[in-house]
Amino acid sequence: EIDTTLRPKSINDYIGQDKIKDKLKIFIEAAKNRNEALDHVLLYGPPGLGKTTLASIIANEMGVNLRITSGPAIDRPGDLAAILTNLDENDVLFIDEIHRLNRSVEEILYPAMEDFALDIVIGKGPNAKSIRLDLSKFTLIGATTRAGQLTSPLRDRFGVICKLDFYSVDDLKKIVKRSAKILGVEIDEDGALEVAKRSRGTPRIANRLLKRVRDYAQVVENGIINKKVAQNALKLLEVDELGLDKIDEKLLLTIINKFNGGPVGLDTLAASTGEERNTIEDVYEPYLLQIGFINRTPRGRVVTKKCYDHFRIQPKNE
Ligand code: ADE
Repeated sequence: EIDTTLRPKSINDYIGQDKIKDKLKIFIEAAKNRNEALDHVLLYGPPGLGKTTLASIIANEMGVNLRITSGPAIDRPGDLAAILTNLDENDVLFIDEIHRLNRSVEEILYPAMEDFALDIVIGKGPNAKSIRLDLSKFTLIGATTRAGQLTSPLRDRFGVICKLDFYSVDDLKKIVKRSAKILGVEIDEDGALEVAKRSRGTPRIANRLLKRVRDYAQVVENGIINKKVAQNALKLLEVDELGLDKIDEKLLLTIINKFNGGPVGLDTLAASTGEERNTIEDVYEPYLLQIGFINRTPRGRVVTKKCYDHFRIQPKNE
């Protein structure tokens, strides 16, 4: 279901996030030398920055199996117990959107992470008793968009916590060139730069834009991606020079036009744009904050002068 062709398999092929790579390389080597499972790892940051990719690289570098699931996919404690009892020694269990685990499932994780044990209650009422089942040692890799959404007992059980940042244009350009090579499409330096600049600091977006620009180059042009081809393709895709799309535009113009530049609360913004509150908060807002187009204030979101300038709109004075 996930296309893995563009994903790097070893840590040395993973571009960017240098601080995280430096740390992980040491912790992986140390754990391997001791023949132990790597300590539990929490990865957090906006979507599309490579959390799942990192988890698969960690499993690969450790030489163990990777089991992938997600918070919303685990309904009942028994579902998680089944997964945990099927892990081999030192395996990696990746739980995406780990902040969305329900309480009863999360509570299974505490002894599993801390003592590699499952506490199972048998029977009901006065005859109920608890038995402890030993698990293989394993590494839990949890991923979440916002670390603040995790309960503290869960967060406290991770030995390694890594915050993924948006990628530089330079790193994205390297990723675009690498992906183009794998896809077998010719792209020149300026073509790769153009795609990189419009990828919102996000490899997943870079790879998606590259595929669509490739389609355009193949059908409308001679198959080769240069700056002009990339620009024309991205114009068709309605992705602007900064990588902002129609939804970013709608969010920003709503704040400007309906709320006089803000402040406006997230729920109000969601209601007046028809976008989900969580999607705005996790997907759109982080990049708009990063490029300084919006600010968070105690009374809500405001757009900045930089944002007004981008749309060539004159801020109204109140
Ligand atoms: N594809 C997606 N993310 C990547 C990364 N960080 N490095 C290389 N290729 C990638």
